[in-house]
Amino acid sequence: MPEPGGQMRMAAGRLEFKSPLLLASGCASFGEPFEDFFELAEVGALITKAITREPRAGNDPVRICETPAGMLNAIGLHNPGVEEFATEILPGLRETGATVIINVAGHSEGDYLEVLRRLRETEGIYGFELNLSCPNVDGGTMFATDPVLFGRICEKARAVTDRPLIPKLSPAAGELAPYAQIAHGAGMDGVTVSNTHPAMALDWRTGRSKLSRPSGGLSGPAVKPLTLYNVHQVAQTVPELPVLASGGCCEARDVIELVRAGALAVQVGTILFSDPLRPRRIHEELPGLIAQCGAKTLQELRGRVETG
Ligand SMILES: Cc1cc2nc3c(=O)[nH]c(=O)nc-3n(C[C@H](O)[C@H](O)[C@H](O)COP(=O)(O)O)c2cc1C
Repeated sequence: MPEPGGQMRMAAGRLEFKSPLLLASGCASFGEPFEDFFELAEVGALITKAITREPRAGNDPVRICETPAGMLNAIGLHNPGVEEFATEILPGLRETGATVIINVAGHSEGDYLEVLRRLRETEGIYGFELNLSCPNVDGGTMFATDPVLFGRICEKARAVTDRPLIPKLSPAAGELAPYAQIAHGAGMDGVTVSNTHPAMALDWRTGRSKLSRPSGGLSGPAVKPLTLYNVHQVAQTVPELPVLASGGCCEARDVIELVRAGALAVQVGTILFSDPLRPRRIHEELPGLIAQCGAKTLQELRGRVETG
C-alpha cells in the first residue's frame, strides 16, 4: 500500500493523492465491486459514478459493447440520486477509508449546483469532479463544448463550495487547452482530461447501432494516444493547473507515460471490468519502473517529455 509522503505521493496546488492511481467514474460504481480484490484506501481516490439531483434509470439496454482495443458505452447517468447517495451509500463508502471524489452530472446549471449544495457540508468527501458532458436542456449543447456555458458553470460551482472542483473535459470540444485556461480562470483546482470519445459501432448486416442509442463514448486502450496528446497540450498551456488523466490507462507503464505527459494523477476505468485486481498490480509494478526511469519518486517524472 502506498505510504503518504512516499514514492508515489503526487501533489500540486490544492490537490494531493497518496497514490497516482484513481478509479474512474462509472467504472468502480461506489467501490463495492472491489471489496474482494483490494482496499479502497490504497488508491489515490475513488471517483463515484455520476450523481444527479434526482434518481435516474439511465438508457435502455444495450448500454455497452466491445470494440477493437476498447469499449463503447451509453449508460446515461444511471444513479440513485443525491439524497439516497448521501444517506444510504456514502456512509458505507466513508468506512472503507477511501478518498472519495463525487462525479456530479445534470442537465441544467441548477441541477449541478443543487447536488453541490446538498453535499458541500457532508463529511467524507474530498472534492467534486464535474461531468459536463451532458446536453444542456436549454440549448442542446454540452457544457463541455461551449466555452461560455463551461466558464459560467465553473464560476457558479466555485461560489457554492470551497472543496476541490475538477471539471471533466470532453474530447467533443476539439482542442482542450482553451477549456483548461477557462477552468483555471474560474478557480478550478484541476481538470480531468478527458471523458470518453464520441463514437459508433454498427452491425454490418443490419446497419443497426450496437447500442440502444446511435452513438456512445469510446474508452480503453484505443484512446490512450489521444489522452497522452490532450494531457500534454493542457499541461503545456496551463502548467499551474493539475491534470487528472483519463482514457486508456491499463498498465503501470501507462501511468508513467501519462505523468510524463504532465498528469498529476491517472484514472483507470475500462480495464477494471476485465481485471479488478489491476490497481494492485499497477501499485506493485510502479516502484520498479520509477527506478528504471532513474527517478526516486513519480512526482520527479511529471512533465518530463523528450522530443526529437
Ligand atoms: C461503463 C462506463 C461508465 C462511465 N460512467 C461515467 C460517469 O458516470 N461519469 C463520468 O464522468 N464518466 C464516466 N465514464 C467515463 C470514465 O470515467 C473514463 O473517463 C473513460 O472511460 C476513459 O477512461 P478508460 O479508458 O480508463 O476507461 C464511464 C465509462 C464507462 C466505460
